[in-house]
Amino acid sequence: MDTIEALFTRASPPLLTAPGPTAGQLDTILKAGSRAPDHGRMQPFRFAIMEGAARQRLGDLMAESLYRREPEASASKLDAERAKTQRAPLIIAVAAVLQPNPKVPEVEQIVCAGAAAQNMLLAAHAMGLGAFWRTGPASYDPAVKTGLGFSEADAIVGFLYFGTATVTPPERPVDVAAVTRRI
Ligand SMILES: Cc1cc2nc3c(=O)[nH]c(=O)nc-3n(C[C@H](O)[C@H](O)[C@H](O)COP(=O)(O)O)c2cc1C
Repeated sequence: MDTIEALFTRASPPLLTAPGPTAGQLDTILKAGSRAPDHGRMQPFRFAIMEGAARQRLGDLMAESLYRREPEASASKLDAERAKTQRAPLIIAVAAVLQPNPKVPEVEQIVCAGAAAQNMLLAAHAMGLGAFWRTGPASYDPAVKTGLGFSEADAIVGFLYFGTATVTPPERPVDVAAVTRRI
């Protein structure tokens, strides 16, 4: 698959099953993420890999986060939140470690981590894997960040779900004209 084909055919399958990325594929995904455009070579991106029981740990953190936001949430709603991390065999939390830098404002460090995430999705797709970029309120919860080993000041830009897509999502139409103008 060439680069343009990968860009045009990447899609987000909501449910991803085993097998997840092999060790070699995971290495490629992480290298692709690390090749994100990086102003000042600050390397602001960090990748936290969760497989097996570690996904359950994220599920627990997400359910606890939901409970703090909604103390009246039912047990089944909390269980459903906890189960969300079972939607793929492997999850990578991508975060930006924000450092003061007069030449590289925080927004650029966050965008850099976002570019790393997109590189990772595309690398997975190019290797025939499915990938889905998710966030949600838990990704902004300081307790979730520290629970995953980040600091409260770090910015989680996404939880990337990786696995095998059983259903190809329908093509998403694009409207270039609606978002483009010449100056
Ligand atoms: C920063 C970011 C966060 C996102 N968070 C979610 C999310 O929490 N849940 C969700 O369903 N889609 C989320 N999305 C969108 C999906 O990843 C996906 O891009 C969207 O459904 C469009 O589908 P496509 O990628 O197949 O075009 C997020 C996208 C970005 C860039």
